Amino acid sequence: MRPYELIKAKRDGKRLVPEDIRAFIEAYTSGVVPDYQMSALCMAVFFRGLDSVELGAWTRAMLESGEVLDLSDTPGVKVDKHSTGGVGDKVSLSLAPLAAACGVPVPMISGRGLGHTGGTLDKLESIPGFKVDLPVSEYRRLVREVGCCLIGQTASVAPADKKLYALRDVTATVDCIPLIASSIMSKKLAEGIDALVLDVKVGSGAFMKKVEDARTLARTMIGIGAEMGRKVTALLTDMDQPLGRAVGNALEVVEAVEMLRGRAPADYTEVTLALTAEMLVLGGKASSIAEARQKLEASVADGSAVRKLKEIVQAQGGDPRAIDDYALLPQARSTVDVVAPQDGFVTGIETEAVGLAAVALGAGRQRVDSRIDPAVGFTLLRKVGEPVKAGEPVVRVHYNDPAPVEEVKARLLAAYRFGAQAPAPRPLVVERLE
Ligand code: URA
Repeated sequence: MRPYELIKAKRDGKRLVPEDIRAFIEAYTSGVVPDYQMSALCMAVFFRGLDSVELGAWTRAMLESGEVLDLSDTPGVKVDKHSTGGVGDKVSLSLAPLAAACGVPVPMISGRGLGHTGGTLDKLESIPGFKVDLPVSEYRRLVREVGCCLIGQTASVAPADKKLYALRDVTATVDCIPLIASSIMSKKLAEGIDALVLDVKVGSGAFMKKVEDARTLARTMIGIGAEMGRKVTALLTDMDQPLGRAVGNALEVVEAVEMLRGRAPADYTEVTLALTAEMLVLGGKASSIAEARQKLEASVADGSAVRKLKEIVQAQGGDPRAIDDYALLPQARSTVDVVAPQDGFVTGIETEAVGLAAVALGAGRQRVDSRIDPAVGFTLLRKVGEPVKAGEPVVRVHYNDPAPVEEVKARLLAAYRFGAQAPAPRPLVVERLE
């Protein structure tokens, strides 16, 4: 079928055959199909959707547009985790060493900040010397010898997604469940994994604001995994306020290390342990979630999780002393506090607005080519449900450049809601799907 006919068929709600989908995606990746025809097809998919056969063919074509990494020389079940993105989401930084310390090989290809959400690669790069652009041969060796490697997407992995994602970003076709699911799964399946845990964020700081949408996305990705012979489980987790208290790259590294020392905020600790426990079960290192939790807690208590993190940092060119001495991480020169305007409780935090305030401060990118400042960010001194008195600090802003600070403070104050009564606590793990 010619590109025009294929676009018209999807526009009119017809089912596409797998061979035509593959040919279209191959031709797009090689530049034969231009951006305008692919954007028309994405918009047709946005309105008409893809059924499970079409989605399987779409994902497979994206996956096979590049190299599918082979980690068969590493024994054991290789398991990764993917988050759909949030604010203060530093789970990967503690989950990867925890799982590796408990014997699960973790191959992890991560992303940079996207929109209002932070990215694991940016956080890791705030550790002096840490390299995320290792060659595939080194990635393979570190997964085998250290038990974990965290790198960025290389040009050879799922190139169709790299091109398509940039196109969707400017054609209003990002927030489309089949396109998100195929984008995520094509990249993850190319890493060489046997199993995957999905952290589908839901709430005001997530791409999916409603539980029903998060559930549909999770089910869609689980279905793709099943079709490709991989076991996938998903937790829908709360992103209606930032996770933990640190937002910003180096600040989040400190909180992640503190988690491995058993000293991090309860919400972040709980979400990390819940997701890592799923990995241990999938990886065959525990026969139940309860047993997995015990093993994870033991690896925190006996120091093996933090030792594994130091090993990973050293293996990827970073300075492991920064894990013990936080003064070796980038530090902001100044701080200023945002204070509560009234007595009462924090009743809500508009989380996307906090993420955008972090971007305005320089912790994230305003443009694809912006440089980020790894030292800057926020410490949330009060979170939802906590009491405050008028004039007490609620957020500490860590900054270097004073220029955006007044705007950032105003954004943060506008993001916080206060009231006379604490709201009922929301569950951190909203649902589990497999
Ligand atoms: N993350 C991805 O990798 N792809 C999407 O389409 C959305 C979020």
